[in-house]
Amino acid sequence: MNDSSVPPIVHPVRVEGAAIVLRELAETDLDVLVAIFSDPLVVRYIALDPVTAEAEAVWLAETIAAATVTPRTQYHLSIEHRPGQSLVGTLRLGIDRPEHRSGEIGYALARQWWGKGLATEAVRLVVRFGFDQLRLHRIWATHHPDNPASGRVLQKAGMTLEGRLRGHMYTKGAWRDSLCYAVLETDDTRPTSVG
Ligand SMILES: CC(C)(COP(=O)(O)OP(=O)(O)OC[C@H]1O[C@@H](n2cnc3c(N)ncnc32)[C@H](O)[C@@H]1OP(=O)(O)O)[C@@H](O)C(=O)NCCC(=O)NCCS
Repeated sequence: MNDSSVPPIVHPVRVEGAAIVLRELAETDLDVLVAIFSDPLVVRYIALDPVTAEAEAVWLAETIAAATVTPRTQYHLSIEHRPGQSLVGTLRLGIDRPEHRSGEIGYALARQWWGKGLATEAVRLVVRFGFDQLRLHRIWATHHPDNPASGRVLQKAGMTLEGRLRGHMYTKGAWRDSLCYAVLETDDTRPTSVG
């Protein structure tokens, strides 16, 4: 393996779309993050219990610090709505082993922003970022089988349903399955534009 096979490090990230911008998390995001991730409906289908302000402050400080560590393996980004620069949600692109050139994404939006196409745009943008700037080969995501809106987002963003991961994780006191979606840099379905 040579160095060209390892994804480059990008910091700070700023990816601009039609309605949203993906940018680095900031300390000033804390109050909105607490509002989003303390909402039981937001965390209902993700492996996270509703957060407290104290715990979220610790997480935010650690995550901002981790963004500048080399190699960068976690791209935790804020989803900002362009018109009013409102923070509407977050998105994570995690790279387990850089030499594998594979990244997993996850995302969540504040409830008042659901149903406006913003998660779809965010996934399209991060897929393009992952392929073009991080030189990933595969980008994938999983969702709870009872959360079809998330599957629809992945499908609209050009991902293919690969199958059901049985007993994928133990969370909230039970084993749960997940549906797995992915897109390869070589796929014809790779999104080429946002909108
Ligand atoms: C899942 C989530 C990210 C979707 O965000 P969003 O901005 O509302 O998504 P979009 O508007 O881009 O697209 C949603 C799609 O799902 C569809 N949808 C919504 N509810 C649905 C349901 N119950 N069954 C099937 N499709 C559904 C919408 O109709 C839309 O598809 P369409 O454009 O073809 O009509 C958002 O609901 C959320 O943040 N949920 C809480 C956190 C979470 O579950 N994150 C995913 C973890 S895997």
